[in-house]
Amino acid sequence: MPLADLIEHLLPRLPGDALVTDPAQLLAHARDAAPFSDGGTPAVLALPDTPEQVSHILRTTYELGVPVVPQGARTGLAGAANAVDGCLLLSTARMDRILAIDPANRLVRCEPGVVTRHLNEAVAPHGLTYPPDPASRDRCTIGGNIATDAGGVCCGKYGTTADYVLGLDLVLPDGRRTRTGRDTVKGVAGYDLTRLVVGSEGTLAVVVGATLALRPLRPPALSLLARFPSLTTAGDAVAALTATGYVPSALELLDRATSRAVHALGHPLMRPDGAATLIIESDGGDPAGELAEMAALCRAAGAAEVTVAADPAESRRITEARRLVTPALAAVAAGLPGDATVLVEDVAVPRSELPKFIGTTEEIAHRHRLRLYTLGHAADGTLHPAVVFDRADPDESHRARLAYDEIMAAALALGGTTTGEHGIGTLKRDWLARELDPASLELQRGLKRLFDPKNLLNPGKVVQA
Ligand code: LAC
Ligand code: ZN
Repeated sequence: MPLADLIEHLLPRLPGDALVTDPAQLLAHARDAAPFSDGGTPAVLALPDTPEQVSHILRTTYELGVPVVPQGARTGLAGAANAVDGCLLLSTARMDRILAIDPANRLVRCEPGVVTRHLNEAVAPHGLTYPPDPASRDRCTIGGNIATDAGGVCCGKYGTTADYVLGLDLVLPDGRRTRTGRDTVKGVAGYDLTRLVVGSEGTLAVVVGATLALRPLRPPALSLLARFPSLTTAGDAVAALTATGYVPSALELLDRATSRAVHALGHPLMRPDGAATLIIESDGGDPAGELAEMAALCRAAGAAEVTVAADPAESRRITEARRLVTPALAAVAAGLPGDATVLVEDVAVPRSELPKFIGTTEEIAHRHRLRLYTLGHAADGTLHPAVVFDRADPDESHRARLAYDEIMAAALALGGTTTGEHGIGTLKRDWLARELDPASLELQRGLKRLFDPKNLLNPGKVVQA
């Protein structure tokens, strides 16, 4: 299909500036934030600003047989938003309106391009909050969060994006529009298409609107930072906290290398020694009392030092240490020779297996002579072993790739999953077949064919049709 024909069909019903073919802009939109993931060369970038325009675009691409790759803010980490050759990139960035805030029913209706943080700022004056808190929340969009079922730090207590999506306005790959879900708290009419589309990485339909559940604003939180002499003792503390019934609003684990990197960035509470750091936050009814009890559990598990915040300002200093991990690892990479980059893994294991899993990843990194930094959401068992390697060095890149695969195999061997919250995209397609049984994989492929019989919507992502 010549590009000129596609543009000629699209233009009459789009604003003049909604189609971009400038090579520099196309290149800037060609990939998300995942290294190692396959990506192609897009033909055109479309920036619609209404659902009708999205419908027009998909009707046209369906008729002409042009592949379409939906995109949010491209902060994803699995290559799900990467271009495929000759595709139309469909960015929902301009559809960024909050349509209605409904405090009586505790819900909000919005378009997919709303930045997650902006949504929270808009509902806060109503005493409400949208809890999912992916690390990229200052830039990522609700549409992207829905596509990936984005998680974050507070998910152990508050759940992931899926737990908040009540209904979706969708455009199907052939341009038809449909609405899934409901505005009510409960509802069991038919198969749960909403839940199916959440996390489907833009392979089944394009989200053009969402109805999201909200919660009352979270009470002020307090946090503590505990330093452990070994990963096992930190793991014991996590197990003890969970067994005792605490549901902290954050329970984050940083290994020795990660703690050092944050210390090197100048965080006053981090130390270069200590095998593991736990950052624990409570936003319960009596956070100070709960934290005192959790501090005692940490000490009993063997913590060498526990710093409990006395007020919200100290608390913010503690949680800041977790926020600094990404910049700290970027600083590590920037300080290395060559073209160093950070490959952030994303696996989840049953919480009881966390220490064993971290031990295995350390062994893998050691054997492949790689720099490994492990951080994770211990509250829900999601871990991000991060390898910092020089992509200009073919041998080190190869070793990083091998370690990446071994880390996933280790997670599966412990009863875990190859992706806790970043998704399959192109990066982990081969692993999906290893994680799912053949019947499940066939159902997944069948669903893709049902929604997208011509295999035009984000083809090659998640499952091969
Ligand atoms: C985080 C991202 C990498 O937890 O998921 O920081
Ligand atoms: Zn994470």
